Amino acid sequence: MNTVLVGAQWGDEGKGKVIDFLTEEADVVVRFQGGSNAGHTVVVGDRKYVLHLVPSGILHEGKHCVIGNGVVMDPFDLMRELEQVESWGFTLKGRFHISERAHMVMQWHRAIDKAEEAARAEGAKIGTTGRGIGPAYAAKVGRYGMRVGDILKPDFLDLVRRQVAEANRTITALGALPLDPEEMVKLYAPMVQALMPYVTDTIEFIHDKLEKGATFLFEGAQATMLDIDFGTYPFVTSSNPTAGGACTGSGVSPRAIDRVIGVLKLYTTRVGEGPFPTELLDDDGETLRKRGGEFGATTGRPRRCGWFDAVIARYAQRVNGVDFWAMTKLDVLDAFPVVKICTGYRRKDGFVYTTFPADLEVLKWCEPVYEEMPGWQCETSHITSYDALPENAKKYISRILELVGGKLGVLSVGPARETTLRISI
Ligand code: IMP
Repeated sequence: MNTVLVGAQWGDEGKGKVIDFLTEEADVVVRFQGGSNAGHTVVVGDRKYVLHLVPSGILHEGKHCVIGNGVVMDPFDLMRELEQVESWGFTLKGRFHISERAHMVMQWHRAIDKAEEAARAEGAKIGTTGRGIGPAYAAKVGRYGMRVGDILKPDFLDLVRRQVAEANRTITALGALPLDPEEMVKLYAPMVQALMPYVTDTIEFIHDKLEKGATFLFEGAQATMLDIDFGTYPFVTSSNPTAGGACTGSGVSPRAIDRVIGVLKLYTTRVGEGPFPTELLDDDGETLRKRGGEFGATTGRPRRCGWFDAVIARYAQRVNGVDFWAMTKLDVLDAFPVVKICTGYRRKDGFVYTTFPADLEVLKWCEPVYEEMPGWQCETSHITSYDALPENAKKYISRILELVGGKLGVLSVGPARETTLRISI
């Protein structure tokens, strides 16, 4: 069973925890897009691990972890993370692999990301994580990017000099200070030795393992509504976190994928700018933020919070072909006397959109249409089976499934590893 796991909303659905759970059955975990803009949190016992680039499979000894060709990898972030993983007592040698085809996020991409964001007018700001993701992907599709395999070449440091000189034109045009090419050379020279042992032809590695019958988990970062093609463009990230990205970002055929699992938080959050139809700016929003610990794992920014949006979840089900849902954070809703599900967006003239509009302007003139359901107002975090859930919680989940399609595969009722309930996968 080879599985693709994707986020169904605007990220932070609890993918790290679900990946950690599914990794038990996988031999190889592959990250296929994004970079250190992601933050996957896994709680084991009383320890909390946050990973940005390295697949969370690394927390399971004996599993292979791959950074696929679709990822943009910041070598400094990676080196820091690898040191951390080793300090936690996990081995990397022989089980961590980086694609030589993956692109690198360099200091100048970060500088451009920050300068571009600063230059954007109010209302046009994207609220990027500042990790250089957009400029690194722009370099990739512009065909002037730097690939991981470049560090193996004898003229790597000359390439650094040339790229800095080129990037400085953009940086200074945006009104920011240029970078010193020699400083950059000094910075990147030691990296070559540190990363070389992990760089490999991951396409060969993956296909070799596939032929031997290994089980794969393709781990998506970010989420459907942040997808460059399917998300709330331009308030999106620069990659394809949707299921198709698993193939282009790792080099496997769609035929190698057996099932798609979507991670769906039972309310909605978003970090950064952009439309969010069910956003709550009142006490209910604050309660969700506090109870859900809704602060960014990468940037620490408070997340915007709101009611469950079935329009985007149904859209995510279709775009990704979700077979099973991993529904998360049910316990966060325990406190509410009433829970709401958005089923459409009503325009001022009464027209109701039940599909997500491509033109974001439309949303400015709409308000969410809600179905209200009674809450359950009792603690669910200790519950160990679906049957033991309060009736109203079951009704809430069933109604969501009815609206969005797909089956319930996994339900998470708390942050710890033991609070992930296997339902039907
Ligand atoms: P970028 O990926 O840093 O370019 O940021 C683009 C948008 O995606 C911003 O709104 C970010 O807040 C959002 N974003 C990027 N990565 C994540 C993530 O892992 N979780 C949630 N939002 C993210």
